[in-house]
Amino acid sequence: MRKVLLSAIALILVGCSSAQPLAVDLSPSAERGLKIAQQSGCASCHGSDFGGGTGPTWQGIIGTTVAFKGGASGVVDREYLIESIKYPDEQKRVGYSVVMPYNNLTDEQISEIVDYIEALSN
Ligand code: HEC
Repeated sequence: MRKVLLSAIALILVGCSSAQPLAVDLSPSAERGLKIAQQSGCASCHGSDFGGGTGPTWQGIIGTTVAFKGGASGVVDREYLIESIKYPDEQKRVGYSVVMPYNNLTDEQISEIVDYIEALSN
C-alpha cells in the first residue's frame, strides 16, 4: 500500500515538470536505480532530470572535485556517492544550505541508484 502511494506521488511529481530523466542507455540495475530514486523523492531536490535544484546535479558528477565546508575537498566516485546517500549529513558541500534528509534505502537500493548516477556520467 505504502509503495503504491509513493509511486503515485512520484508520478504526480514527474507529471508536474516538463523535464524528464535523460535518455541514456541503462543497465537493468541502473534502470531500477532510476525508479527507486523517482519513488523516494530524490528528484524533488536533485531535479526531475537529476540536473540539480536544491541539491547538486547527478549529471556528469563522477570524477568532479567538490568542496566541503571546513576546507576539505574530494573527488566524486562510487564510494563517495554511496557514503553520501547512507550518511547524508556527514559531509556538507559548499554552496548548499539544505541538509539532505536521511532515507531508509537498503544497501542494494543505494547501489542501484549509484549505478544510475554513474550512467549519467558516461
Ligand atoms: C530535501 C532535499 C533533498 C532530498 C529529498 C534528497 N537530497 Fe540528496 N542532496 C541534497 C543536498 C542539499 C545535497 C548536498 C548536501 C551537502 O553535501 O551538504 C545532497 C547530496 C546528495 C548526494 C551527494 C552529491 C554530491 O555532489 O555531494 C547524493 C549522491 C544524493 N544527494 C543522493 C540523493 C538520493 C539518492 C536521494 C533520495 C533518496 C536524495 N539525495 C534526496 C538534497 C536532497
